[in-house]
Amino acid sequence: MSQQTTEAAEGSGLLMAAHDGFIQSRALQLAAELGIADLLADGGRSAEELATATETHRPALYRLLRLLAGSGVLTEVEHGRFELTPAGAELRADHPRSVKATLLSAKLFLPVYADAMYSLKTGEPAFPRSFGKPLFEYLQDHPDQSAHFHSAMADASRLETAALLDAYDFGGAGRLVDVGGGTGTLLGAILGAYPESTGVVFDQPHLAEAAAAQAAADGVTDRLTFTAGDFFGQEIPRDGDIYLLKSIIHDWPDEEAVRILRGCRQAMSPGSRLLLVERVLPPGGGSHPGHAMDFTLLVVLGGQERTEDEYAKLLAEAGLKCNGVTATASPMSVLEAVPLPD
Ligand SMILES: C[S@@+](CC[C@H](N)C(=O)[O-])C[C@H]1O[C@@H](n2cnc3c(N)ncnc32)[C@H](O)[C@@H]1O
Repeated sequence: MSQQTTEAAEGSGLLMAAHDGFIQSRALQLAAELGIADLLADGGRSAEELATATETHRPALYRLLRLLAGSGVLTEVEHGRFELTPAGAELRADHPRSVKATLLSAKLFLPVYADAMYSLKTGEPAFPRSFGKPLFEYLQDHPDQSAHFHSAMADASRLETAALLDAYDFGGAGRLVDVGGGTGTLLGAILGAYPESTGVVFDQPHLAEAAAAQAAADGVTDRLTFTAGDFFGQEIPRDGDIYLLKSIIHDWPDEEAVRILRGCRQAMSPGSRLLLVERVLPPGGGSHPGHAMDFTLLVVLGGQERTEDEYAKLLAEAGLKCNGVTATASPMSVLEAVPLPD
């Protein structure tokens, strides 16, 4: 083969592998929806048994399973019989690093990605064109989708929480307010590690029930309360020692981000700290794993990942001074800010 032919083959191989990522990703979503990994939790099963359990067409399901075996999710131990690989086990709902909820929630975004050209032409999110309203308004009226989305957020929080607790000292924080705290997975874990602290999850009213269930599961009902409200209003609870915003500011364009931060600033007392838990991009160009989430934020919400300087600028506009960034062993970092004098 000439050098030119080899280079051409390598080039198209790279592009086709990237293109096939779409097919692999959809195969994983379908496997999650069918609960394939949960059905294989106790050991290998035949395609026939799996087809019966999932009410699918056996030969068609076999083709999905074979594809998943090719990508290292399953092993075809003998013809037509499949087991989970250690990586595939993370598709199980009960795995400590489960990604099942994330895959289930991803289906909602398929039409949004199909319409991503709109975002490229306008810089605006495509979600409202597909669903008639922005994501967080849509989730309020769609309990099933909301449950998938918030389980995915809780799974991500579970993975990131240990790294966060290792990296940042929450000691001495009597009262924490988790602004946009979802169902309270992160705050529950922090209160578990700091038995002297109490906390408030502040989020949309439709999450109250799930947050109460999570607090009960974490054994912190006596110290964790839920306050329903809108972080664009004047309703953020006052008197927190720490205001925690994890994966909140990256959801929004600058103007809305500053409005949320101003609301926090107004609720804070002079001794309060505000913590942004976000993927912080390095300054300058170059590729970074955070760019995949950044592109998702563009098409789904109109938000973006930011550098430390970009966060510091937003914080300053809201009357807050960035004290610096603490990296964690997860992709998330902690930006600490304190109120600038009035
Ligand atoms: C990306 S999720 C992050 C959840 C949580 N902090 C975490 O990291 O798991 C964004 C959260 O903001 C909440 N949210 C969106 N708009 C809101 C609003 N106007 N007022 C209060 N919460 C809102 C959503 O309900 C959701 O829980």
